[in-house]
Amino acid sequence: MEKMKDADIVIELKHDKDGAWKTDPEMFDWLVSRFGAEFVRDRLQDQIKHANKIFDRGRRLLHIENSEWVMVILYWGLRLIGLYDRGYRNFFDIQTVENEVFIKNLPDAFEGYRILHLSDLHLDIDENLKNVVAKVIEPVEYDLALVTGDFRASTGGSYQMAIDETVAFMETMPEPVYAILGNHDFLEFVKPLEDYAKLTFLVNESLPIEKDGEVIWLSGVDDPNMYQMDNLKMAYENVPDDAVKILMSHSPETWKEAAALGVDFMMSGHTHGGQICLPGGIALIVHAKCPRSFINGPWRHKNLQGYTSPGTGGCGVPVRFNCPPEITIHTLRKG
Ligand SMILES: [Fe+2]
Repeated sequence: MEKMKDADIVIELKHDKDGAWKTDPEMFDWLVSRFGAEFVRDRLQDQIKHANKIFDRGRRLLHIENSEWVMVILYWGLRLIGLYDRGYRNFFDIQTVENEVFIKNLPDAFEGYRILHLSDLHLDIDENLKNVVAKVIEPVEYDLALVTGDFRASTGGSYQMAIDETVAFMETMPEPVYAILGNHDFLEFVKPLEDYAKLTFLVNESLPIEKDGEVIWLSGVDDPNMYQMDNLKMAYENVPDDAVKILMSHSPETWKEAAALGVDFMMSGHTHGGQICLPGGIALIVHAKCPRSFINGPWRHKNLQGYTSPGTGGCGVPVRFNCPPEITIHTLRKG
């Protein structure tokens, strides 16, 4: 943590009256060398655009992501009707959910392979959250761990606390842990989280996962929801056609393209399963353009199997109703 501050690599999103981007030139150079100038320019411009909305410089003043007062009303409303404490307890009642994924051409070495899927940690929403998540994970056995985006609670402003909490949490996790960016995450998160939280990010990138001389491919795309910088074609450029393809996509909104590219299994988050739901898990608000059946748990589209995590953490107000948070273990099976 100290090292991170000394390294001076965490930069803040700032904008002056003209909305000009102010960033650390060293960070900018690193991002360009990793992701290419065009991608960095487009992602950062979008970040500014969204941050300007958040800071009330755009026209969509009533956008829920931008409205701290909506959260204040929700918080005090729940307090007033006596439901806040129950919702807060529910927020930390993290379930361990098992899911089996059947893949026809799964290499024998990967039979029974266990993937720990965390999503939407938003650890800076509450200082207790990282310890609760770590405790739930402690007894679980798995072969590979990954996080399908959303490290920060808000979508703008300072992100130092989100980085600090994630770094502290990742100290409890053995390497490697793979990750993608969500709609709450800036591109600048990649460097500090790779350097100090031991995460390996896949931003429209892929890498082979080897076991006993056999291989499956893990890919990750950038946020397809708010920033829409996902590029599946780029991610799959170097992946052999006949490979087993596992994809991380923050929102399930990439389902059609993933199915067309022959992805076997896609893991997502983003929806929080609704977070505040009616009895039966019926979400009041869905922030993703996809069928309702895709917003929580396992789903299928043609040959693509998908799983949308309802989130390990959550954002807005730290409460949940009829929609428990979870860590998910996906066990790969041949068949
Ligand atoms: Fe989220």
